[in-house]
Amino acid sequence: MKMPKSNNITSIGDDMWEKICNQDEISDNSVLAKDIAGRQLMVCRISDTISVTDRICTHEDADLSCGFVSPDGVRCPLHLSVFDVNTGEPLNPPAIEPISVFNVKIEYGEVYVEV
Ligand code: FES
Repeated sequence: MKMPKSNNITSIGDDMWEKICNQDEISDNSVLAKDIAGRQLMVCRISDTISVTDRICTHEDADLSCGFVSPDGVRCPLHLSVFDVNTGEPLNPPAIEPISVFNVKIEYGEVYVEV
């Protein structure tokens, strides 16, 4: 089995890292909705790379975790903007503002997010 990669961010200190899920909770090319530290986040695993982003679309508040995964990112279920989950940038209108992307690390099969 191929092991997923994180988006390769280094830790500053351990206090800001929160466990968000186990690595095996999310299959490749899928999205998992999670609420952490008062934020509505989604864990995305696309082409075996794990990213964590906000999950509310910057256009009109749709829940991106209800959208569609493509090789380019996650497509909003409401008006179909695609967000690159590594940069947060929308790749097509109508969304023009990026979603937030969070630092991720994977340790012993557990996925942590820096919040
Ligand atoms: S609500 Fe997401 S593109 Fe409109």
